[in-house]
Amino acid sequence: MTNDNLTTERPTFVTHLECGMQGDRYEADQVHGLSRAGKPLIVKYDLSTLSQKISQQELATRPADMWRYREFLPVRRRENIVSLGECQTPLIPIPRLQAGSGDLLVKDEGRLPTGSFKARGLCMAISMAKELGITKIAMPTNGNAGAALAAYATRAGIESYVFCPADTPEINVREIAAQGAKVWRVNGLINDCGRIVRKGKESMGWFDLSTLKEPYRIEGKKTMGLELADQLGWNVPDVIFYPTGGGTGLIGMWKAFNELKEIGWLTGKLPRMVAVQATGCAPMVKAYEEGRDSAELWQNAHTVAAGIRVPVAVGDFLILQAVRESNGFAIAVNDDAILAARDEVSEREGFLMCPEGAATYAAYKQSIQDGRVRADESAVLFNCATGLKYELPPMTNTLDCTKPIDYTHLATANDS
Ligand SMILES: Cc1ncc(COP(=O)(O)O)c(C=O)c1O
Repeated sequence: MTNDNLTTERPTFVTHLECGMQGDRYEADQVHGLSRAGKPLIVKYDLSTLSQKISQQELATRPADMWRYREFLPVRRRENIVSLGECQTPLIPIPRLQAGSGDLLVKDEGRLPTGSFKARGLCMAISMAKELGITKIAMPTNGNAGAALAAYATRAGIESYVFCPADTPEINVREIAAQGAKVWRVNGLINDCGRIVRKGKESMGWFDLSTLKEPYRIEGKKTMGLELADQLGWNVPDVIFYPTGGGTGLIGMWKAFNELKEIGWLTGKLPRMVAVQATGCAPMVKAYEEGRDSAELWQNAHTVAAGIRVPVAVGDFLILQAVRESNGFAIAVNDDAILAARDEVSEREGFLMCPEGAATYAAYKQSIQDGRVRADESAVLFNCATGLKYELPPMTNTLDCTKPIDYTHLATANDS
């Protein structure tokens, strides 16, 4: 069966791009990296014409995937869409764990191609790379982004180079290689990998696809916000907890909500955006608490939640802006709390989160406890990747089938 979203040509409304800090203008339909000031570029749309051409009713008739929102996205021609089946991800209630009358929902991004929300951003970035004629790309990654990049680049026939910190989860490094990228482990952190990409740019002739160093990953991540509002009947929750590394998702969602507000599809209060980090790597939390507009490099970054181990983010000011504009906050949780949160959600609700996703549940609990979120407020947690990609606690039970089984012991075997 064909998917109309991928076969129907639809109008697009991109007018230009703007520096996220200085607001100076850049032409659409050209290859861009950072702005002249070295800051991320933001894609701008003619939202008033867009809102006359498309209605919520029409969107509802289309297949439910991220390409349903085509008019809000930058790809001009449908033949440039590089797709691996970017399904709508479910919103899963976890009622046993909600603090009071406010709904607690998990948006499970682990259902996307390559098992993480990185598919949204990289699907868009690679589609735009194809549209703009880019043939060779490179990127630093903590794992999931590299996996998505490898998959979509291979699909598009684009050559890709990926650099990961040496302790990136083995599964990520292998899936990157299996999906056709050239991949290296580097004895440093993601910013060290980023330096390798930057320095190799000239001699290797590759385009730098690092987080926020090209304009279109934000547009892909924006679909998390469009989709969430759509799923809630063009409504939003009171609070969103988002595991924040480079922050593309948080920035993208905030952009989505503001665009929807501008065209009148969202009318009430926008959600409070909460940036969740790990205490071992919390540059945004520190900057937020110190009232600063940008963050400092975090020294000796460490956490079990590899995806949010990002010591320095080029979009730091945009993350802090979104958090403050939305009346949200930034919060850090420690690794013990993250792992305990993962166990609690899987044992009580049968839902296995990734450590980064579990960090959002740990942060929700902490915020309820310290009163920053009320028990009657609705909250959405982002589980950004499938829990199956990560190391799980060992299971050591065995049975000898050649001997009589002591059935009375089975019921208590896993109790600790
Ligand atoms: C599972 C997971 N959660 C969260 C993040 C952080 O995402 P962002 O760069 O949008 O802050 C990552 C990034 O690698 C990730 O892999």
